[in-house]
Amino acid sequence: MIGEQMAVQTSDMIRSYIESTKLPFFIKGVLSEEEAVKCADLGAKAIIVSHHHGRLPYAVPPMMVLPGIKKALEGRDVKIIVDCGISSGADVYKCLALGADAAAVGRSMLPSLEEGGIEGMTKFLTGVNNELRFVMSCTGFSKISEIDDSCLQMS
Ligand SMILES: Cc1cc2nc3c(=O)[nH]c(=O)nc-3n(C[C@H](O)[C@H](O)[C@H](O)COP(=O)(O)O)c2cc1C
Repeated sequence: MIGEQMAVQTSDMIRSYIESTKLPFFIKGVLSEEEAVKCADLGAKAIIVSHHHGRLPYAVPPMMVLPGIKKALEGRDVKIIVDCGISSGADVYKCLALGADAAAVGRSMLPSLEEGGIEGMTKFLTGVNNELRFVMSCTGFSKISEIDDSCLQMS
């Protein structure tokens, strides 16, 4: 509702939103294993691992917590989407390799949108897809669902 005051959302509040709709409910801003499990327990169908492009200063980078969240949600019917700083197909590959089901793009697509509108966006997303395909072909994965972290160098 426009004008509604922002407030901390309790588990009861979130449960009531989830139960009020038949649509799959996604929860954004998850940054820990504990939060991810709580979302699953409340009935979320997906979580978005995100710090809302740095809205929360000094927040942990989403990619850093992704593997732990993936493990914490093993066996649960909850999709994992990640965002923040994704700008290329190689970035998307790393997200998938670290446990995400999908990656979302924010600010990096804005110049294409501003300059080229729908055409610009199509070009941008096609470029991301093509680069993802290229990295997959170089690392021996033919399906998105097969991508794992075997070709990532972790330090
Ligand atoms: C102009 C702008 C407005 C945004 N508004 C919201 C918002 O209202 N709610 C929200 O959850 N995230 C908001 N975001 C964050 C994005 O949904 C997304 O999490 C973020 O942009 C991803 O990081 P990236 O831009 O580095 O890809 C906003 C981002 C931008 C750039």
